[in-house]
Amino acid sequence: MHPQGDVTNPGPPATVYAAIGGEPTFTRLVDAFYAGVAADPVLRAIYPEDDLGPAAERLRLFLIQYWGGPTTYSDTRGHPRLRMRHAPFPVNGATRDAWLRHMRAALDSVGLPAEYDEQLWQYFTRAADSLRNTPG
Ligand code: HEM
Repeated sequence: MHPQGDVTNPGPPATVYAAIGGEPTFTRLVDAFYAGVAADPVLRAIYPEDDLGPAAERLRLFLIQYWGGPTTYSDTRGHPRLRMRHAPFPVNGATRDAWLRHMRAALDSVGLPAEYDEQLWQYFTRAADSLRNTPG
């Protein structure tokens, strides 16, 4: 089955965003992730605001856009420039690993089909590694 159609019956390209259930799936993922961050003293200390809600919403909109959903993130925040936006925060081996540990748990809680779980996890591990800006 090709939900995006075939050469004789083309349709819009499929997106990961649509394939995994759209906005509600990203909301569940990010809610689970930030519940982990909130309970982690090492990571919690890095986040500048007491209220993690706005940070959660920025990540949620970014991921929705990245995986092919609406572009609300860039419409409101501009180009993602994630390396620049993380420059004020110490991303080292330890904070990267903590971030990824909470994202792994969040992905497990959402229970995506294996092929999509794998795609998102590959992306998160590469992205988190590329954001390292501090030794250690
Ligand atoms: C590697 C460990 C990471 C740490 C310690 C970290 C930490 C942070 C912190 C402290 C903020 C500021 C919170 C706020 O927006 O108020 C932030 C923002 C953000 N992070 Fe991360 N982050 C990490 C990895 C990632 C990864 C892998 C992604 C994407 C896949 C990501 C996406 C974002 C986004 C979209 C924002 C909001 C940017 C904006 O519009 O201002 N982060 N992060």
